[in-house]
Amino acid sequence: MALTDFARELVEQAFHPLQPEGAQFDLPVEQFVDIVSPLKPRFIHHPKTMALLRALLADIGEDMDRTYFDLPRMRVATTGGYLTAGVAYVLHPHRDIWYASPPSQLNWWLPLFPFEAESSFAFHPRYWNEPVPNSSADYNHYEWNKVGRAQAAKEVKSDTRKQPKATVPLQLEPDVRVVCPPGGLLLFSGAHLHSTVPNTSGRSRFSIDFRTAHHDDLERVGGAPAIDRACTGTTLFELKRASDLQPVPPEIIKLYDPAPPADGEGLVFKAAATSGGM
Ligand SMILES: [Fe+2]
Repeated sequence: MALTDFARELVEQAFHPLQPEGAQFDLPVEQFVDIVSPLKPRFIHHPKTMALLRALLADIGEDMDRTYFDLPRMRVATTGGYLTAGVAYVLHPHRDIWYASPPSQLNWWLPLFPFEAESSFAFHPRYWNEPVPNSSADYNHYEWNKVGRAQAAKEVKSDTRKQPKATVPLQLEPDVRVVCPPGGLLLFSGAHLHSTVPNTSGRSRFSIDFRTAHHDDLERVGGAPAIDRACTGTTLFELKRASDLQPVPPEIIKLYDPAPPADGEGLVFKAAATSGGM
């Protein structure tokens, strides 16, 4: 609750005097982007965000010495197709593991305002253990960090970043949409096929999310089925240990990428926008 309260306060400050969920009706889309673009990094890199996130992990009973987490993201899903690119990218069906996440990754997703099935995101459980032909072979995580995110703030009308996508038609229904109040959270495997639902609720939806991985799962390369991924690179350089913010040990990273770029380019993102989100 403290984490979502803090995030919501930042959103409200940024849109003041407008009410964030309805601000899109009073703002030209370019101005909306100008508000959201700096809001995201402000939340992501705020020291209070990190403190509250770690407090949440401790509160929920994580083993802080064996849990790694990344910085949280903030998402906005506007209603009625107002803004669907860049800072409000509408995520096509994907698995986070197509974006170089480890198969043991858990996703934590928290709403900032009450929301409903018409403004949520959907799981497509049929594909949990059924491979989906996709373009993840074209995705390199370090290239994404160098190029993709820098572009996100510029994308207003369309999104040209190369994202891993299914290359065949999918059966997306029946889907599963889980709704919880602010202060609740959805915790799910990064290997689940999921997608943003076109928001028809009449209100912008604001949410935050972050990822964790457990040391023991990483060490044994365990986790969910990784049945259809061909991406390169790994997100593990971006994770920090919950107890003391130490990085994932190199001997573990080697299991996921034996030869990361020697110059260190793109290992860690500088300004986050979207990747494998919801
Ligand atoms: Fe995702």
